[in-house]
Amino acid sequence: MMTQSPKNLRILITGGAGFLGSHLCERLLAEENDVICLDNFFTGRRENIAHLISNPRFELLRHDVIEPILLEVDQIYNLACPASPVHYQYNPVKTVKTCVMGTINMLGLAKRVHARILQASTSGRILGLCEYSGSALVL
Ligand SMILES: NC(=O)c1ccc[n+]([C@@H]2O[C@H](COP(=O)([O-])OP(=O)(O)OC[C@H]3O[C@@H](n4cnc5c(N)ncnc54)[C@H](O)[C@@H]3O)[C@@H](O)[C@H]2O)c1
Repeated sequence: MMTQSPKNLRILITGGAGFLGSHLCERLLAEENDVICLDNFFTGRRENIAHLISNPRFELLRHDVIEPILLEVDQIYNLACPASPVHYQYNPVKTVKTCVMGTINMLGLAKRVHARILQASTSGRILGLCEYSGSALVL
Protein backbone atom coordinates (compact mmCIF):
# COMPACT_ATOMS: atom_id res chain seq x y z
CA MET A 1 0.00 0.00 0.00
CA MET A 2 1.32 3.48 -0.89
CA THR A 3 1.80 5.81 2.07
CA GLN A 4 0.87 9.45 1.50
CA SER A 5 3.43 12.18 2.22
CA PRO A 6 2.44 14.48 5.07
CA LYS A 7 1.09 17.90 3.99
CA ASN A 8 1.29 21.40 5.41
CA LEU A 9 4.69 21.00 6.99
CA ARG A 10 7.10 23.92 7.29
CA ILE A 11 10.25 22.69 5.61
CA LEU A 12 13.68 24.32 5.44
CA ILE A 13 15.91 23.37 2.52
CA THR A 14 19.46 24.70 2.83
CA GLY A 15 21.23 24.81 -0.51
CA GLY A 16 17.73 25.05 -1.95
CA ALA A 17 18.87 26.94 -5.05
CA GLY A 18 21.27 24.16 -6.01
CA PHE A 19 20.81 21.17 -8.27
CA LEU A 20 19.20 18.78 -5.79
CA GLY A 21 17.72 21.49 -3.57
CA SER A 22 15.74 23.22 -6.31
CA HIS A 23 14.11 19.94 -7.37
CA LEU A 24 13.34 19.15 -3.75
CA CYS A 25 11.74 22.60 -3.31
CA GLU A 26 9.49 21.84 -6.30
CA ARG A 27 8.55 18.40 -5.03
CA LEU A 28 7.75 19.49 -1.47
CA LEU A 29 5.70 22.47 -2.69
CA ALA A 30 3.76 20.14 -5.00
CA GLU A 31 3.00 18.04 -1.92
CA GLU A 32 1.41 21.14 -0.33
CA ASN A 33 4.08 22.09 2.16
CA ASP A 34 5.51 25.50 3.06
CA VAL A 35 9.11 25.64 1.86
CA ILE A 36 11.89 27.95 3.01
CA CYS A 37 14.78 27.86 0.56
CA LEU A 38 18.00 29.06 2.21
CA ASP A 39 21.07 29.63 0.07
CA ASN A 40 24.17 31.84 -0.15
CA PHE A 41 24.22 31.42 -3.96
CA PHE A 42 27.81 30.20 -4.09
CA THR A 43 26.95 27.55 -6.68
CA GLY A 44 23.17 27.80 -6.62
CA ARG A 45 21.38 29.96 -9.17
CA ARG A 46 18.27 32.13 -8.96
CA GLU A 47 17.12 30.66 -12.27
CA ASN A 48 16.79 27.27 -10.59
CA ILE A 49 14.06 28.58 -8.32
CA ALA A 50 12.73 31.59 -10.30
CA HIS A 51 9.56 29.70 -11.25
CA LEU A 52 8.78 29.10 -7.55
CA ILE A 53 9.06 32.72 -6.33
CA SER A 54 5.40 33.53 -7.06
CA ASN A 55 4.20 30.54 -5.04
CA PRO A 56 2.81 31.90 -1.74
CA ARG A 57 4.06 28.77 0.05
CA PHE A 58 7.65 29.46 -1.06
CA GLU A 59 10.10 31.73 0.76
CA LEU A 60 13.67 32.54 -0.26
CA LEU A 61 16.37 33.47 2.26
CA ARG A 62 19.88 34.56 1.31
CA HIS A 63 21.90 33.25 4.22
CA ASP A 64 25.11 31.35 4.89
CA VAL A 65 24.75 28.18 6.99
CA ILE A 66 28.03 29.03 8.69
CA GLU A 67 25.99 31.61 10.62
CA PRO A 68 23.34 30.40 13.06
CA ILE A 69 19.69 31.06 12.29
CA LEU A 70 16.45 30.45 14.16
CA LEU A 71 13.42 29.37 12.13
CA GLU A 72 10.27 27.56 13.23
CA VAL A 73 10.19 24.52 10.99
CA ASP A 74 9.09 20.88 11.13
CA GLN A 75 11.75 19.43 8.84
CA ILE A 76 15.22 20.41 7.63
CA TYR A 77 17.04 19.14 4.56
CA ASN A 78 20.64 20.31 4.91
CA LEU A 79 22.02 20.28 1.36
CA ALA A 80 24.14 23.42 1.64
CA CYS A 81 27.59 22.61 0.36
CA PRO A 82 29.21 22.78 -3.05
CA ALA A 83 29.10 19.30 -4.57
CA SER A 84 31.51 19.43 -7.51
CA PRO A 85 35.31 19.23 -6.98
CA VAL A 86 35.97 22.47 -8.85
CA HIS A 87 33.74 24.32 -6.38
CA TYR A 88 34.60 22.58 -3.11
CA GLN A 89 38.34 22.88 -3.83
CA TYR A 90 38.04 26.59 -4.71
CA ASN A 91 38.19 27.59 -1.04
CA PRO A 92 38.89 24.49 1.07
CA VAL A 93 38.68 26.33 4.39
CA LYS A 94 35.26 27.73 3.52
CA THR A 95 34.17 24.25 2.40
CA VAL A 96 35.21 22.73 5.73
CA LYS A 97 33.45 25.55 7.61
CA THR A 98 30.30 24.97 5.56
CA CYS A 99 30.37 21.23 6.27
CA VAL A 100 31.22 21.51 9.96
CA MET A 101 29.62 24.77 11.12
CA GLY A 102 26.68 24.36 8.76
CA THR A 103 25.96 20.90 10.10
CA ILE A 104 26.37 22.00 13.73
CA ASN A 105 24.06 24.98 13.15
CA MET A 106 21.39 22.89 11.43
CA LEU A 107 21.56 20.10 14.04
CA GLY A 108 21.29 22.78 16.75
CA LEU A 109 18.27 24.30 15.03
CA ALA A 110 16.64 20.88 14.65
CA LYS A 111 17.15 20.24 18.36
CA ARG A 112 15.75 23.64 19.40
CA VAL A 113 12.59 23.45 17.34
CA HIS A 114 12.18 19.65 17.47
CA ALA A 115 12.48 19.28 13.70
CA ARG A 116 13.49 16.17 11.80
CA ILE A 117 16.66 16.64 9.80
CA LEU A 118 18.23 15.05 6.75
CA GLN A 119 21.95 15.68 6.34
CA ALA A 120 23.38 15.33 2.82
CA SER A 121 27.06 14.91 2.38
CA THR A 122 29.71 13.19 0.33
CA SER A 123 33.15 11.91 1.24
CA GLY A 124 34.49 13.42 -2.00
CA ARG A 125 34.78 16.84 -0.38
CA ILE A 126 36.98 15.46 2.36
CA LEU A 127 39.06 13.43 -0.08
CA GLY A 128 39.43 16.54 -2.18
CA LEU A 129 41.17 18.29 0.68
CA CYS A 130 43.66 15.50 1.21
CA GLU A 131 46.74 14.29 -0.54
CA TYR A 132 46.54 10.57 -1.24
CA SER A 133 49.80 8.82 -0.39
CA GLY A 134 49.83 5.04 -0.76
CA SER A 135 47.25 3.63 1.59
CA ALA A 136 47.15 6.70 3.83
CA LEU A 137 45.31 9.96 3.38
CA VAL A 138 47.49 12.89 4.42
CA LEU A 139 45.73 16.06 5.43
N1 LIG B 1 24.51 15.86 -6.88
C1 LIG B 1 24.87 14.63 -6.47
O1 LIG B 1 24.95 13.67 -7.25
C2 LIG B 1 25.18 14.38 -5.01
C3 LIG B 1 25.53 13.09 -4.62
C4 LIG B 1 25.81 12.85 -3.26
C5 LIG B 1 25.71 13.86 -2.34
N2 LIG B 1 25.37 15.10 -2.75
C6 LIG B 1 25.30 16.16 -1.75
O2 LIG B 1 24.06 16.84 -1.80
C7 LIG B 1 24.24 18.22 -1.53
C8 LIG B 1 23.68 19.07 -2.67
O3 LIG B 1 24.30 18.69 -3.89
P1 LIG B 1 24.00 19.46 -5.26
O4 LIG B 1 24.42 18.56 -6.37
O5 LIG B 1 22.61 19.99 -5.25
O6 LIG B 1 25.06 20.65 -5.14
P2 LIG B 1 24.94 22.17 -5.63
O7 LIG B 1 26.32 22.74 -5.59
O8 LIG B 1 24.15 22.28 -6.89
O9 LIG B 1 24.05 22.81 -4.47
C9 LIG B 1 24.59 23.19 -3.24
C10 LIG B 1 23.86 24.47 -2.82
O10 LIG B 1 24.37 24.87 -1.54
C11 LIG B 1 24.59 26.28 -1.58
N3 LIG B 1 25.62 26.58 -0.58
C12 LIG B 1 26.93 26.25 -0.63
N4 LIG B 1 27.54 26.70 0.48
C13 LIG B 1 26.59 27.30 1.23
C14 LIG B 1 26.61 27.97 2.48
N5 LIG B 1 27.76 28.11 3.19
N6 LIG B 1 25.45 28.49 2.97
C15 LIG B 1 24.31 28.38 2.26
N7 LIG B 1 24.22 27.76 1.06
C16 LIG B 1 25.36 27.23 0.56
C17 LIG B 1 25.02 26.57 -3.01
O11 LIG B 1 24.88 27.91 -3.37
C18 LIG B 1 24.09 25.62 -3.78
O12 LIG B 1 22.86 26.24 -4.07
C19 LIG B 1 25.74 18.42 -1.30
O13 LIG B 1 26.02 18.35 0.08
C20 LIG B 1 26.34 17.24 -2.02
O14 LIG B 1 27.60 16.88 -1.50
C21 LIG B 1 25.10 15.38 -4.06
